[in-house]
Amino acid sequence: MTIVSIWCRHKGDNIIGAGLGLPWKIASDTKRFRNLTEGKIMVMGGRTYSGMPQKVLMGRKVIVLDNTHTIEVFDAENHIICDNIEKLVDYPENLYVSGGAGVYAMFFNTPAIMPDVVVDCVYGGDISADAKDLIDVNKSVAVLEQKYTTLPQRFELDGVVTTVWLKKGDFVEQSVVKEILAYLETEGK
Ligand SMILES: NC(=O)c1ccc[n+]([C@@H]2O[C@H](COP(=O)([O-])OP(=O)(O)OC[C@H]3O[C@@H](n4cnc5c(N)ncnc54)[C@H](OP(=O)(O)O)[C@@H]3O)[C@@H](O)[C@H]2O)c1
Repeated sequence: MTIVSIWCRHKGDNIIGAGLGLPWKIASDTKRFRNLTEGKIMVMGGRTYSGMPQKVLMGRKVIVLDNTHTIEVFDAENHIICDNIEKLVDYPENLYVSGGAGVYAMFFNTPAIMPDVVVDCVYGGDISADAKDLIDVNKSVAVLEQKYTTLPQRFELDGVVTTVWLKKGDFVEQSVVKEILAYLETEGK
C-alpha cells in the first residue's frame, strides 16, 4: 500500500481552510485535486466530507474518518465510515489522504500510516478577505520538513506552486510517483 497525501496550503501561514470550506477559489486547484484522486480511494475527515459538495464525491470511493458517530454517508455504495485510523494500517489498496487538518495531523503523526508521498500545493496569493475560522496544517508541515525530501520538479499554475515530497529512508512505489508527476507536467497545457 502507498499512502499519498494531497493538500493546498497558503504560503507562510499554512492555512488550508475556513470553517467547513476553502478560503480561496482556484479552479485549476480544484481540478488538480479531482484529477489526482480520480479512481482512487480517498480518506477524509468528517468535517471535510460534510463541507464538500455532494456531486464532487458522488460515485467516488471515500473512507470518512469520524469517531463522533454523527456523519451519515450520502453514497452508501461507495462511502464508508471508519472510526479508528489504526484500522487503515496495511489497507490492501493505495490511499489518498484528502484532509482536513485533523486528518493530515493524524496521518503525519502515526508512524504506521505516515504518507509515503505528499503532493504539496502552496498558494502564494491572497486568501478571501471575509474568511473566518481559519484552519492550518502547521503541525503536519513541521513533520513534512523534517521527515521528507522534496523532488526537484516544481510546477506553477495560477499562483499555486506544487512540489512532490517523499518519505526519507523508505522505499516509495515509483509507479505512483510517476503517475502524479505525469499529471503535473501536463496540467494547464
Ligand atoms: N486546502 C486543502 O487542501 C483542504 C483539503 C481538505 C480539507 N480542507 C479544509 O480543512 C478543514 C477541515 O479540517 P478539520 O481539521 O476541521 O476536520 P477534518 O480533518 O475534516 O475532520 C476531522 C475528523 O476526524 C475525526 N477523528 C479524530 N480522531 C480520529 C480517530 N482517531 N479516528 C477516526 N476519526 C478521528 C474527528 O472527529 P472528532 O471531532 O471526534 O475529533 C473529525 O470528525 C475545512 O476547512 C476544509 O475545507 C482543506
